[in-house]
Amino acid sequence: MKKIVSFFFISILLMGLLAACGTSDEKSSNGSDAKDSDKKVLTMGTSADYSPFEFIDTAKGDDIIGIDIDIAKAVTEKLGYEFEIRDMDFGGLIQALQSGQADFVLSAMSATDERKKSVDFSEIYYTSKHMIVSKKDSGITKVEDLKGKNVGAQLGSIQEDKAKELAEEVDMKVENRNRIPELIQEIKAGRFDAAIIEDTVAKGYLDNNEDIEGFTIEDADGGYAIALPKDSELTEEFNKALKEMMDNGELDEIFKKWFEGE
Ligand code: ARG
Repeated sequence: MKKIVSFFFISILLMGLLAACGTSDEKSSNGSDAKDSDKKVLTMGTSADYSPFEFIDTAKGDDIIGIDIDIAKAVTEKLGYEFEIRDMDFGGLIQALQSGQADFVLSAMSATDERKKSVDFSEIYYTSKHMIVSKKDSGITKVEDLKGKNVGAQLGSIQEDKAKELAEEVDMKVENRNRIPELIQEIKAGRFDAAIIEDTVAKGYLDNNEDIEGFTIEDADGGYAIALPKDSELTEEFNKALKEMMDNGELDEIFKKWFEGE
């Protein structure tokens, strides 16, 4: 009898333990009340090297913050989801959507025709231009000056495509790196003569680094949009929420918040 009773108690104890494990397993999200509900948690893929869109302000902590994170917060909140961020190299984001590692991508990603073959996009929420960044007094002030130079771009970006396209007109060498800070480092170290970076992001570096300069060349190909897996049921919902934000000024507010105080 004693044995049976103690077995009974041990079972209860074990069950309690298991239940405790179950709840502590809850995923945390970037949304405000991470644990408050059984809301579905979506995974957002991003490459957090892109201030002011997605970056880590090391002076303030190690959270990923920026325009795209605020957009993700607003959109998912409207739709009743929570979300968590998965930081990865930009060149791996499309693949992450295709393999189900990410439910959506917000990463200043341009909605190009090429990418539309593999993923779906929301409405466009921002447009950008290409900028050629180089060391101060490099003498590089127009595309032709790239002749004979080593030019960097982020792997998998439309800036890399642009660099390759320019290399057909001007005899230059194209190299890639995974992250934007690496491009800047290579310029400073003299391994790259220049890099092609989007204007808004490049501007942040120019403002903070006196030894580099840059000029804008032209509009980039396709504005930024939220990317989702092909035929995802989320696309329509996301689009509705994003459009609502465009119409009611919420989106403008987010841009104002991040562009102000520069
Ligand atoms: N807009 C460019 C593209 O779509 C570059 C985006 C890079 N984004 C990033 N988070 N590093 O190719």
